[in-house]
Amino acid sequence: MAAWWQSAVIYQIYPRSFQDSDGDGIGDLKGILQRLDHLEALGVDAIWLSPVFPSPMADFGYDVSDYCDVDPLFGSLADLDKLIAEAHARKLRVILDFVPNHSSDQHPWFIESRSSRLSAKRDWYIWQDPAADGGPPNNWGSTFGGSAWDYDAATGQYFYHAFLKEQPDLNWRHPQVQAAMHDVLRFWMRRGVDGFRIDVLWHLMKDPQFRDNPVNPDWQPGMPDITRTLRTQSCDHPDILGIVEGLRNVADEFEDRVLIGELYRPLERLVDYYGPQGKGVHLPFNFHLMDVEWRARDLAELVQTYEGLLPEGAWPNWVLGNHDQPRIASRLGPEQARIAMMLLLTLRGTPTLYQGDELGLPDAIVAADQVRDPWALREPDANVGRDPQRSPMPWDGGTHSGFSSAKPWLPLVDHWRTLNVAVQEGDAGSMLALTRQLLKVRRSSQALSLGTYRLICAEGTLLVYERRWEEERKLIALNLGSEPVELRGIVPNRTRPCAGTHMPIETVAGDGLAANEGIVVDL
Ligand code: GLC
Ligand code: MG
Repeated sequence: MAAWWQSAVIYQIYPRSFQDSDGDGIGDLKGILQRLDHLEALGVDAIWLSPVFPSPMADFGYDVSDYCDVDPLFGSLADLDKLIAEAHARKLRVILDFVPNHSSDQHPWFIESRSSRLSAKRDWYIWQDPAADGGPPNNWGSTFGGSAWDYDAATGQYFYHAFLKEQPDLNWRHPQVQAAMHDVLRFWMRRGVDGFRIDVLWHLMKDPQFRDNPVNPDWQPGMPDITRTLRTQSCDHPDILGIVEGLRNVADEFEDRVLIGELYRPLERLVDYYGPQGKGVHLPFNFHLMDVEWRARDLAELVQTYEGLLPEGAWPNWVLGNHDQPRIASRLGPEQARIAMMLLLTLRGTPTLYQGDELGLPDAIVAADQVRDPWALREPDANVGRDPQRSPMPWDGGTHSGFSSAKPWLPLVDHWRTLNVAVQEGDAGSMLALTRQLLKVRRSSQALSLGTYRLICAEGTLLVYERRWEEERKLIALNLGSEPVELRGIVPNRTRPCAGTHMPIETVAGDGLAANEGIVVDL
């Protein structure tokens, strides 16, 4: 029997920007609770919450100062318990964000580690002596720009931080760190959490000899600072798979939990994270839909390559957006965003939706004085800002779009008065209506949720494939272009699609698809 997370659709909530309940302009747990109706009506199966743990918020919660509590900004542990219970009552699973690579520099572990070279927790973090010239130990860079090493004058050593200096990296080679982090997972699973999305999983293990990263020959001014070198030594060390297996063993102490790894890795490497003998994460996030050329051939090739690389027993997954990436609707435009949604929800594998994508939400316009993302603030000219995709959910046409009674922490998207949940709920042709319809069809179809995938045609702007489960066959035909395309007998005449981007759905009368049209039909 398939596990729940194989047929499930996951919905990512970025809590700061989902719904505010207490009028501080920042989303919170009670806010999410108020909006569970939206998720139930949408028809997703699981919610993944970006971090809600106590944090100084240097990286908006990805700098955790206590792994086993809730930040007052978001509510209390009791609020989270309530959310878990209420979600479960509605058959929604709850996945938390686990941030194991680094803690906040305000975490008691780091404060103790930093206090003295003789501290019992000194080696819980990564400390190195200065280079011969007194500078950083090697050329490793921080993702957010500059050296990844920060000098601690009091103890005369540098500590390593792959992100901000407020996010020191934990030393996963230390057995006590592993044990402490395993206990964090147990703490949440005992509270009923159904799984974890594991932050920057490929960063956990680095070269134990701290050798320099090679210089990137293609780097040019204007490119993000981190791309000056190729990170072959500072992350994804082969030993990572042992760490992943350790995490999996802990998850397996409980029933029915899922581990999802955040992994920006090429496909050939990504699939290693399923682990030898399947002892890895259940779903190594596959982000490649977000950078593939939007052409039928390229998409078909991506699917084929991925499917071909999957180890025995591994289950695929697909992602179109998250809080770190530009919005799909801005990248492809509103029409192709609908096609993208149809693709995401009909490919073989677990899809993850990012909040707002069900509305076709574009990136918000964030003026220079509204920038909050620490990366954008450090590299204002490198086009790395992540605020646009973190803009609050537009719920209705009221004050601050129903998100908050106060001014939201980030600006709303430009057209929130017409582009919001309430408006789309009343419009049978909206992106929301399409997403709901696709989720409904998917839920009631074994072929779509668990069936096989077979490519039928990838030519020009036309992509056609079949999903099959025993006798049930569904055919998906997508027009990736803005000119009509012929289907040349691929779809039987006068079939009525069970889902379509163009509503109300007509029968496939002629032999083609309109511009930007996609259909799902029963064969
Ligand atoms: C992940 C998160 C991102 C964060 C980074 C550091 O990539 O998704 O938002 O900045 O890790 O924790
Ligand atoms: Mg609030």
